[in-house]
Amino acid sequence: MKLDSNFLWGGSIAAHQCEGAFQADGKGTGIMDLVTIGSYQQPREIDSEINPNKRYPSHQGIDFYHRYREDIALFAEMGFKALRISIDWSRIYPKGDEEQPNQAGLKYYQDVVEELLKHNIEPIVTLYHFEMPVHLVKQYGSWANRKVVDFYLKFCETVYQALNHKVKYWVTFNEMNHIDPQTEASDIFTYIIAGLKYSEIENKKQTLATIGYNMTLASCLAVKMGHEINPDNQIGCVFGIEPVYPVDCNPENVLNAFQQMDRDFYQIDAMCNGEFPKYKLNEYQDLGIELPINPEDSQAFEHGRLDFIGMNYYASSVAEYEGSDANSSALFGGLQNPFLKTSKWGWTIDPIGIRYLLNYTYRKYGLPIIITENGLGAVDKVNQAGEIVDDYRIAYLSDHISEIKKAVELDQVACFGYLMWGPIDLVSATTGQMSKRYGFIHVDLDDEGRGSLARTRKKSFNWYQQVITENAENLK
Ligand code: BG6
Repeated sequence: MKLDSNFLWGGSIAAHQCEGAFQADGKGTGIMDLVTIGSYQQPREIDSEINPNKRYPSHQGIDFYHRYREDIALFAEMGFKALRISIDWSRIYPKGDEEQPNQAGLKYYQDVVEELLKHNIEPIVTLYHFEMPVHLVKQYGSWANRKVVDFYLKFCETVYQALNHKVKYWVTFNEMNHIDPQTEASDIFTYIIAGLKYSEIENKKQTLATIGYNMTLASCLAVKMGHEINPDNQIGCVFGIEPVYPVDCNPENVLNAFQQMDRDFYQIDAMCNGEFPKYKLNEYQDLGIELPINPEDSQAFEHGRLDFIGMNYYASSVAEYEGSDANSSALFGGLQNPFLKTSKWGWTIDPIGIRYLLNYTYRKYGLPIIITENGLGAVDKVNQAGEIVDDYRIAYLSDHISEIKKAVELDQVACFGYLMWGPIDLVSATTGQMSKRYGFIHVDLDDEGRGSLARTRKKSFNWYQQVITENAENLK
């Protein structure tokens, strides 16, 4: 099998990382509007109110809100077939529990989608990418409260209707799988998903299991609703999964690695197999966790199955030795893999991992997969001629795309698209930095918010343009 001629080449961005304009046209405060800048070593601070003396990178983003026409024209110049955007919930329902949506917020996304369609770029819309109205966290306790599922569904319905027949590909959630009751997390990882700092969550196991259940249920209900509104809608969910390798071939360590990786799959199981997995319910029972299950929930799992799976892939990790207290991966500061190099932010560079993950996931579910994120965060330097020669990024992307091709052509995996993360430099989610750059397009903005915001094509811009034109036939 060859890469399809309609293969969806493109990129992915998220509202809070690029739009800026954080109070424009009636937008409410979203959870990421309260997070400062950090670095690889220094975690981002999470505030409960906006402190006027601090800088919050989402407030400015890269000003995509006002410059989307220019940016989309650049994506079109590269030949993009698809762009994944997210809808900031707090633009549509500023507090989350209003009766009526904010029309100005809807109009903005309708305009963005029109602009994409004008350039023959397929919009792929994520309904939840770390963008939750803060009010829902403060007033209702976030996803631990079932009412938030209803507010989310109302938001989804509003957006499905507003973009009906314009948008065909939808994503219910980005990376909800980082919530796991049995895994220690840093504050930012539970915060980006649910607006709650890990260290402050009371009764952690119970709360995180409930959040995981409610979000999984919400995704299934949103899929069901999206199909009812328009049967042509193709609705998926995006997961951020790392292949987890054993530290050696001691069967105990192999099993440990398998179990660690497997923890990330229960929500996909629930969304593909028509029921919330019994093994998870039993696990929770053993831990004394009680899930808030309503009898009608089974209908949601039965009728809310995904049409496709979105995979965000950046790195692989190595599981700690069996019995070790630590339960972490290379991405989050665990064991390094001696066979692999890492990025400046410590993320392993493992192209074969993407082939492994595609195979593993496709064999498990048989559903079409789209790579919804993949890319290299790096420090770029503008040379004396004003150019950015980002050969390291080209090498990273080329190696990963080669492995995707092998997964499709040699392993018969149904992968229907590749969306590179951050085709234009934007704010890093984990660190808030601008200096962690992913883009084909450079944005003149530094970590302190200084710069003209001018857009410049990097060397990789022309490279990706050629990859798309040739459908990756002549990768170097
Ligand atoms: C993904 C997220 O997990 O990782 C993106 O979906 C994020 O929002 C991306 O930007 C890369 O992470 P970072 O921290 O380098 O921006």
